[in-house]
Amino acid sequence: MCGIIGYVGQSQAAECLLHGLGCLEYRGYDSAGISVFEQDGITTVKTKGRVADLAAALKSQPVNSKCGIAHTRWATHGVPSDVNAHPHATEKLSLVHNGIIENYMELKEMLKNQGVSFVSQTDTEVVARLLDLYYEGDPMAAIKKTLEKIEGSYALGILFRDFPNRVYGVRKGSPLIAAVSDDGSFLASDIPAVLAYTRKYYLMEEGEICLLSEDDVKFFNFDGEAVEKQLLTSALTLQQAEKGGYEHFMLKEIYEQPTALRSTLSPRISNGMPCFVRDGIHDGFFEEFDRLHIVACGSAYYAGCVGKHLLGKFGRLPVEMQIASEFRYCEPVLDKRDLVIIISQSGETADSLAALRYAKAKGIKTLAIVNVAASSIAREADYVIYTYAGPEIAVATTKGFAVQVGVLYLLSFQWALARKTADADTVKANVAALLDTVDKLEEAFKLNESCERIAKTLVDAQSMFYIGRGQDYSMSLEGALKLKEISYIHCEAYAAGELKHGTISLITEGTPVIAMVTDNRLAAKTISNVEEVKARGGRIIAICTEQNIPSGDAYDELIVLPKTEEAFAPLLAIVPLQLLAYHTACAKGCDVDKPRNLAKSVTVE
Ligand code: M6R
Repeated sequence: MCGIIGYVGQSQAAECLLHGLGCLEYRGYDSAGISVFEQDGITTVKTKGRVADLAAALKSQPVNSKCGIAHTRWATHGVPSDVNAHPHATEKLSLVHNGIIENYMELKEMLKNQGVSFVSQTDTEVVARLLDLYYEGDPMAAIKKTLEKIEGSYALGILFRDFPNRVYGVRKGSPLIAAVSDDGSFLASDIPAVLAYTRKYYLMEEGEICLLSEDDVKFFNFDGEAVEKQLLTSALTLQQAEKGGYEHFMLKEIYEQPTALRSTLSPRISNGMPCFVRDGIHDGFFEEFDRLHIVACGSAYYAGCVGKHLLGKFGRLPVEMQIASEFRYCEPVLDKRDLVIIISQSGETADSLAALRYAKAKGIKTLAIVNVAASSIAREADYVIYTYAGPEIAVATTKGFAVQVGVLYLLSFQWALARKTADADTVKANVAALLDTVDKLEEAFKLNESCERIAKTLVDAQSMFYIGRGQDYSMSLEGALKLKEISYIHCEAYAAGELKHGTISLITEGTPVIAMVTDNRLAAKTISNVEEVKARGGRIIAICTEQNIPSGDAYDELIVLPKTEEAFAPLLAIVPLQLLAYHTACAKGCDVDKPRNLAKSVTVE
């Protein structure tokens, strides 16, 4: 949610900052801006729109500087506009901010009473004005005093006019790194922003301040005391963070799923059996719990829904599903023998993090399934299982979802062993079938052409439905979210048997309905529901396994998944669901990687 980049060094700052913003644009993209030191002070250029619009603005107003900060925004307070774009500059300083200042109204009132005037509608400007008020020649003293006043979550990048060639960074509740290269120092909200220059970075902890100069980075706590930090080397490569010949990151990431799954699963398989010892989770762990709560948002929640089926099917383990933004407010009934599993690609989703903290405060054990190393959720959970999908840039998650589902398969096998609902031979066979299904994903990519063709028939749809039962319903939820978030077509996922209890009234001549039919036991029932929709004019696109192909007159389009065991079909069904959404969005001319109103990691409540 919003991207920050800062630079001080020997190169032209605007170039490094624009490049960094381009890499961070997935975090927010409604406005962008830059502040740099020039000979006669700080110059700020900002605009509503994308980083490309900022680059155009800088062409007509070129800057010459070796130090600056920049920002790409996802609006929280105040509409996307030139004036609300960051940086927010005062006479003495310029500042960029990620996160939310919760008490900004109260602070704004207090400042107004002291004669301070505001130009924007943002919460961020309050921080800039406070710093300006408290600054009396010592940046650290002003920062310290300001931090004592503000509440909320934030990452800040700050330039003080009196100190050219210095960049200050502050982290509390929103990620920030400092990085060093041969020609300068960087501040960034995410590593991909600096990968073109360096892989050496410092991970800032909560409650830390950094001070960047051309050849040095210093760290302090909020009391101003020096902090020693370890220089780390990122395992990410520039190539991983680039499109690599694909038209969109989303398509690249869809095709990366087999690799992402293999990288995630293989370290957790030993002698053909699930094994989480490398994650610090020993077999006894699985006997400690009688019930799970899976808590997550968006697609991560839907991965959890698939997981609930798997854990029930294989491990006979009761699972409560909870949307993270609801969890702490719905007074969940938690027991000492419960485990709360938080699923999050980014590891920074504010609601998921708050749910994790809530569970911990209640003395409940927590396990996080997270993709981003050293993210807040990963660091605060009692146990972490990292997914190794590599960086996911497209806002719509694809490989991030697949690896979450992959981990949940392995966990359900492990719980089956612990709860003695399956013997070792059965579990071994299941692990082999899982790996075999991962190999079949490559075969599923052959469905690309038919998905593209079918997608072209969906562009004019006003409303669509995804239906399925059991595991197919969980996948329908994810398929529908994928389609709506990137193609803007209104669509709903329904349990196939539930449609007739009201929603079927929305089916009119030609309404597209994607019917998922992979569950052998429930296929006949789902197909009856498909017939009901067909009889009311619905246009059926069936996604099914070979065993469950409906009769010819029950569907208009057919997508048959590669052969796999029934329990593993969800993993294969991911591919056509993603490709249908992707090609529909492309056919409609939508911005696939950066859909409107969204951002990749949602670090506000
Ligand atoms: O980073 P997280 O997995 O915690 O993110 C959760 C959701 O915000 C995320 O899955 C969102 O729904 C995606 N845009 C879906 O494609």
